Amino acid sequence: MRTHKLGELRKGDVGKTVTLAGWVHRRRDHGGLIFIDLRDRFGLTQAVFDPKDSLNAFEPAKDLRSEWVIQIEGTVRERGEGLTNPKLKTGEIEILVTKLTILSQAKTPPFSIADEMIDVHEEKRLKFRYLDIRRGSVAKNLLLRDQAFQMIRHFMAKHQFVDITTPLLGRSTPEGSRDYLVPSRIHPGNFYALPQSPQLYKQLLMISGMDRYYQIAPCLRDEDLRSDRQPEFTQLDLEMSFSDPEELISLMEELFVDLFNSLADAKVCSPFKRMSYQECFERYGTDRPDLRFGMELVRVTDIAKDSQFSIFVDQITSGAVVKGLKVEGGSELSRKEIDKYTSFVGQFGIQGLAWMKMKEGALTSSIVKFFSEEQQKTLIERFDIQENDLIFMICFEEKRANIVLDHLRRKIAHDRGLIEEKKFAFLWVTDFPMFEYSEEQKRVIAVHHPFSMPHPDDLSFMEQEPLKVRSVAYDLVLNGYELGGGSQRIHDEGVQKRVFDVLQLSKEQAQEQFGFFLEALSYGTPPHLGIAFGLDRVAMLLCGTDHIRDVIAFPKTQRATDLMTSAPSAVAPEQLAELKIEMTNREAWTPELS
Ligand code: AMO
Repeated sequence: MRTHKLGELRKGDVGKTVTLAGWVHRRRDHGGLIFIDLRDRFGLTQAVFDPKDSLNAFEPAKDLRSEWVIQIEGTVRERGEGLTNPKLKTGEIEILVTKLTILSQAKTPPFSIADEMIDVHEEKRLKFRYLDIRRGSVAKNLLLRDQAFQMIRHFMAKHQFVDITTPLLGRSTPEGSRDYLVPSRIHPGNFYALPQSPQLYKQLLMISGMDRYYQIAPCLRDEDLRSDRQPEFTQLDLEMSFSDPEELISLMEELFVDLFNSLADAKVCSPFKRMSYQECFERYGTDRPDLRFGMELVRVTDIAKDSQFSIFVDQITSGAVVKGLKVEGGSELSRKEIDKYTSFVGQFGIQGLAWMKMKEGALTSSIVKFFSEEQQKTLIERFDIQENDLIFMICFEEKRANIVLDHLRRKIAHDRGLIEEKKFAFLWVTDFPMFEYSEEQKRVIAVHHPFSMPHPDDLSFMEQEPLKVRSVAYDLVLNGYELGGGSQRIHDEGVQKRVFDVLQLSKEQAQEQFGFFLEALSYGTPPHLGIAFGLDRVAMLLCGTDHIRDVIAFPKTQRATDLMTSAPSAVAPEQLAELKIEMTNREAWTPELS
């Protein structure tokens, strides 16, 4: 149907007879001539219809409208003096059309395809996602994502990882997020669960002796969504036997250096930084710190506790901590700007953001008077306060104080333009706690998952003080996003049972839910470890966007709906009857983003 694609023809092709096909991007009438920019995935080529040369082509060209699909035949010619378009790869030539075939007509699209600059409401973009992709910027992301996937597959194959497909229909397990369930028709009343990740299968493949497995795996989790989370997403999932975290880390660093330097024009070097979970929280208030800028958190509870500032002192007595951060040159912030940050922290339920400015060699603010000279001196030293700096301090229960300061730190960095573009600050976070207490479930749960190896030095705390146990787990963090997480796995049936005990899974429950896995562990399990990376997040960072939807062809909304197909939807009563499911209630939903 075509001799060339639309980004291909150059000056060297002048004189050739060509056949091209694509969409009408723009149409202009100029003194008896019709100009069409013809578009496909590869570019734009200008076509000229001149009644003097071909009336047969010119007449139907009068009817052409945006987004019609056409085929043209013609001759490549050089554009006239001063008419070249340096912005286009094909900008030096045009096609003098001799034959026009209309392949399909198009309704007026709900938004302009040619004018990408025109802002279109996201609801509309998602409803007509196929047209949104046609506009170009999402397509560009999908192409970059494809390049990344190709590099990954090549890298994994080079290192002897075997691409193995694992089932989508599995069994529901209690750990992790909420499962998406699929009812069984053949066994009414029973359900499959869609995989949250191929975790158990990949471990079983190590027991099978496959040695190195990988998969670009679809994963599904019914969890609350945010800008970097989708209910279905894609992992680079891998597992390796007879190896250790150092080997895994260095392999993965090689892959990520290659990906970001080749595809994002970055200058990343390995080895990446490493920091323990504990240290991350102390210095940044989060286990996924953005290291593109400083503004580390500083703990000053000891100073505040002895001050005369009763609001702090009272709260410290009831267990609060005081932590803060320094804004370099921040003394220029007006009262109004400071108030804005105070309301910002207010969203997190924290009343009061204490501040002090350094002006003419002395700390100033309404609360300075509550701190003795000695205490002020210690504050200055601890925060390393220089002339014109400002410090913010928060007094609250530690967990919440960290969450708020993490948000505040990122907000200030954003507001003050402290984030360098094209900077990629990778970080391995290590020494995660094995367990944490879930207020929601009122029990101890696994931080990563229950198959991570407890740190050998901490095994003795397991039963009495489980919250003290670290796991041999690691996360890869980039610019404040968790890209991936993994761990050394338990390869001993006895240790695995002890972990289930801590998680209060009874023998029967463990047997029912993981019996097959515990049994597999008893048939000769190699030491093994693995990791999984969220490839949508990787693509998002490679493409320089901060929304995961921009790198997924057909994403869901924040409310887990698909505005294009209107999923989820009601199903026919016969379908339910076949599954022996009775509906007690159905809530219709209206297609809107929220
Ligand atoms: P984890 O649950 O940490 O580990 O997931 C690994 C990575 O997957 C990405 N991710 C998501 N991306 C988009 N939307 C989501 N809803 C979402 N949830 C997770 C993140 C995350 O770091 N089986 C283990 C890995 C292992 O131990 O080998 C696992 O799935 O980037």
